[in-house]
Amino acid sequence: MSQLKSISDQSQFSLRKNLQALNQLPRFIKEIYKVNPLLFTSNVTSRVLSALTPFATLWVGKLIIDEIVLQVNSSTKTLDHLWILVGVELAIIIFTDLINRWTSLTDSLLGDQYSIQTSVTIINKAAEVDISDLENSEFYDKLERARQQTSGRVGLLSNVLGQIQDIIVVLSLVAGLIYFSPWLIVLLLLSIFPGFVNEVKFSNSSYSLSRGWTAERRELDYLRYIGANDKTAKEIKLFNLSSFISDRFQKLSYSYYLENRKLSIRRNLFGALYAFIGTLSYYGAYVLIIYRTVIGLISIGDLTFLSGSFNRLKTRLESMFSRFTRISESALYLNDYYEFIDQKAIQKNNENLELPKKIKEGFVFEDLHFKYPEAETEVLKGVSFNIKAGEKMAFVGENGAGKSTLIKLILRFYEPTAGRILLDGIDIRRYDKAKYQEMFGVIFQDFVKYELSLRENIAVGKIAYIDDEKKILAASDMSLAKEVIDDVPEGLSQKLGKRFAKGLELSGGQWQKIALARAYMKDAPVLILDEPTSALDARAEYEAFQRFIGLTEGKTSIIISHRFSTVRMADRILVLKNGLISEIGTHEELLQNADTYKELFELQAAGYQ
Ligand SMILES: Nc1ncnc2c1ncn2[C@@H]1O[C@H](COP(=O)(O)OP(=O)(O)OP(=O)(O)O)[C@@H](O)[C@H]1O
Ligand SMILES: [Mg+2]
Repeated sequence: MSQLKSISDQSQFSLRKNLQALNQLPRFIKEIYKVNPLLFTSNVTSRVLSALTPFATLWVGKLIIDEIVLQVNSSTKTLDHLWILVGVELAIIIFTDLINRWTSLTDSLLGDQYSIQTSVTIINKAAEVDISDLENSEFYDKLERARQQTSGRVGLLSNVLGQIQDIIVVLSLVAGLIYFSPWLIVLLLLSIFPGFVNEVKFSNSSYSLSRGWTAERRELDYLRYIGANDKTAKEIKLFNLSSFISDRFQKLSYSYYLENRKLSIRRNLFGALYAFIGTLSYYGAYVLIIYRTVIGLISIGDLTFLSGSFNRLKTRLESMFSRFTRISESALYLNDYYEFIDQKAIQKNNENLELPKKIKEGFVFEDLHFKYPEAETEVLKGVSFNIKAGEKMAFVGENGAGKSTLIKLILRFYEPTAGRILLDGIDIRRYDKAKYQEMFGVIFQDFVKYELSLRENIAVGKIAYIDDEKKILAASDMSLAKEVIDDVPEGLSQKLGKRFAKGLELSGGQWQKIALARAYMKDAPVLILDEPTSALDARAEYEAFQRFIGLTEGKTSIIISHRFSTVRMADRILVLKNGLISEIGTHEELLQNADTYKELFELQAAGYQ
């Protein structure tokens, strides 16, 4: 309800806000110029030339009519002059057509190039911000608003340039009107100004409406997505969710529709009223021109020139005004786009220390506390331990104990709320972040199944090696992904996922083998595997770990797993419970002295008997 209220609050006439939004235009135009200076310049030139043609056409038309009247009334007919004028008019018309086509061609070429560039900018920007930002709904709203208007920005381009063109047209025609009859200017303004005010007023409301509904639109998109795609289809069918989803979609979009309808109706009602006033003044002007011709103040040619000019001026000015509101409306969205791409990733520490060439001591965790930005309770409530260089560490604990969170802190996706992590005695925040993260080979619990080729799915672990088949095959050997490559019809080039033609869906375990290969793609000194084998069969899991242990000699590693057959192979095991370390030690030590570990282990062992 509060939303509806705020929209009507904002719908007050707000020319100032519109004008303010225009501040972004110089930057916008500069960006487009940079996209392709040659095209841009030629576009502007053709627009300026085209802007001069309406005046020229009308003027030549006037000369032709005056000449005709002259010839009709004279006894000796000399038509040469007339034919020259007609020829000139024809030439102007052909020229106008060509140049307008050129303008719209360069418009669309420039627009395409610019839209590619902004999409790339948005993708890059989204990659640049912190993971913690990505999990924030406000950020998503901003992203959505930036993304949504890509096509709008292209329209904005031709609108802005078209506006400049029309200003030239209008100035040239106004000069003609002033020359003949300055009063016409007053009538002209009277005929279009009310409509303009109306446009500005409503364009603001429609922007506010659409902005106010960003979150709902995001939900609508999401519902549309889960309602119809291969990933969710199984559950939607089996749980019979389609009417649940479509009802929800309908309800939500209907209330948006209602708000929008209210606005559209009001816009049109007022629009009709103002158009009526406009038409009256227009006919006032017409009457004035006719009267002056009849009493002989101006010639018939002047009459056609003036009524033609007036008519064109009216349509041009109207289109300029409505274009003005469209421009400022798009500029409001442009604001959102710039707000998004200008936001800075918060850099709390800029020391950018060099990383150790080789890890000597390892990691130390000092009284680590952590709470997710929008959460109420702490996930980690004071965790202290260490991982020695070259040690193989396992994290265990119940679901939600905070194992994956601890990994995210090590990887610096989040900052601890208190306490710190040291690498070789130095707070990890003091190292260059990108280089620090480069040290890790990681497979996440919720790894991504890219609907790309098998080769690309492995190479994403270190995309620079995408063409290095040897490296890719070596990594797949270590992770057992080699078996998958040998199984699928097209080997490494096999497209995965169902989105594209000839794509192949893999089993859960096959995907996991491929994801595991990513961790091996670079020769990282620290390996982190968050439940890398949960979907593997018993034989494959055993084998994967044998290889892991053998291949990571001397490397520091962390494994998270719920399977004790895996966990027991680690040098030391850390048991997390309720945000604290409940036990830490080797498998044997923990079996002897640690209750939680012993209980969990025996529970699982019993299950296998
Ligand atoms: N992005 C997030 N934002 C807010 N809370 C989160 C986020 N991710 C996880 N949590 C919460 O933090 C707690 C710890 O989650 P975490 O993923 O670290 O558990 P885990 O030990 O890895 O569990 P599992 O064995 O199920 O993988 C959970 O209570 C979860 O609800
Ligand atoms: Mg987890």
